[in-house]
Amino acid sequence: MGAGRGTWGTQFGFYLAAIGSAFGLGNIWRFPYIVSENGGGAFVLLYVFLVFIIGMPLLVGELILGRSTRSGLMRAIDIVIDEGPKKDNEKFFRFKWLGVGSLILCGIVLAYYAVISGWVLHYLSQLTVTAMTGSPFDPSGTLSFLLANGWLQVLLTSVHLLVVIVIVAKDVEEGIERAVGFMMPLFVVLLLVLAVKSLSLPSAPEAMRFLLYPDFSSLSMQSLGQAVGHVFFTLSVGFGMMVTFGSYLSDRVYIPIAGFRVATMDSFISLFAGVMIFPLVMVGIQPATGPEMLFASLPVLFGSFSGGLLFGFGFFICLYLAALGASIGLLETIVSNFRESLSVKRARAVWLSGGVCFLFALLPALSSSVFQGFDFGGKGLLEFLDGLLINWGLPVAALITSQVVLYKLSDLKKKAAFEDPGSEFHDTEKIYSHWIFALRWVVSPIVILALALQLLSLL
Ligand code: PFF
Repeated sequence: MGAGRGTWGTQFGFYLAAIGSAFGLGNIWRFPYIVSENGGGAFVLLYVFLVFIIGMPLLVGELILGRSTRSGLMRAIDIVIDEGPKKDNEKFFRFKWLGVGSLILCGIVLAYYAVISGWVLHYLSQLTVTAMTGSPFDPSGTLSFLLANGWLQVLLTSVHLLVVIVIVAKDVEEGIERAVGFMMPLFVVLLLVLAVKSLSLPSAPEAMRFLLYPDFSSLSMQSLGQAVGHVFFTLSVGFGMMVTFGSYLSDRVYIPIAGFRVATMDSFISLFAGVMIFPLVMVGIQPATGPEMLFASLPVLFGSFSGGLLFGFGFFICLYLAALGASIGLLETIVSNFRESLSVKRARAVWLSGGVCFLFALLPALSSSVFQGFDFGGKGLLEFLDGLLINWGLPVAALITSQVVLYKLSDLKKKAAFEDPGSEFHDTEKIYSHWIFALRWVVSPIVILALALQLLSLL
């Protein structure tokens, strides 16, 4: 969906595209490693709880904001403020910056997302070489070679960004996002098979206990912030992407249920990823945490059963497509907002934004080589950047978005979105009041508490 503002033809088309964009490295790569950093089961419980009490209400809010203004975040803010009561300078000073901030967030996240997507490409190429030459696959050698070669990471990152740029510049992203949505069932099947294989390892009982048994003493002052940040990241909320998505959404789609379905699917996939990874991590030869966790542990499984490498290949193809779908969503959000505010040609906006993202990406791509010496409280540059954006920047952006939806979008428009066009749901008034309650009394206090606890832990 690009130049003209059309709408998704069918509900199903919207689901495919929304899931294709929300689902990505956050579920498979990031979720297991932050669960590991935060001690397992208690964090998982906190995360699932937060998906439904803060993530879903905000996801619904962003979709409604986009659909009722038929605009991306920046123009949507202008529209709702113009429609509301005027106060001097409010428009410029307070909210305009939210749009700009969210887009900067999209750009920086796309930059390091592209680096990790490059890692996936590297594994894909190594698995292909293995399949063609019949030589054994060396999981730890593959990872250490990659980490030591910063310029290889820069090359892989640019290949990924180039693919994303060409797709968005040619305005064919809707087709790609749907294709990613279509391959989701295949990915889920692969994930399930690998999870079952993992569960047959001797370390599985210990791993399941770690993942599912809530030991609240293992949570730290930063855990709430990390869970809040990850919920927003995995549901793609706070970036303005769902506002753009909502702007293409047909009036026939009942947004509250759409939000519920996207949130539920997304959480299930993350949980399966946890079931797949933790028995491997607990085998003990891999690092227990950090951004390398998935890449260090998973290939060990591929070598452990016959046909495993083929599964591995299929898995990394699906993972790459998932990363591609999310990257396209990020670049499309930047470009469509950019073009709504300034009249720039599509191709020029895409290449310009993609180019800036590439420059940002140099830092994380070189973090394990040229910038190896950087140490931010025991974290490398990539991990530090990830934490800064997701645990701090994203909750702030999401908090401001929730205020725009709550106080600037008219009640009339909000209520209209809760009238079910299919008349399937009768208690629409009740659902509406629960949603407003959640936005007002749950989302804001929890996000503020999470930020305050993180701040305290720094002091
Ligand atoms: N939700 C994606 C993931 O879990 O990998 C990341 C993402 C994609 C965030 C697109 C934001 C976005 F606009």
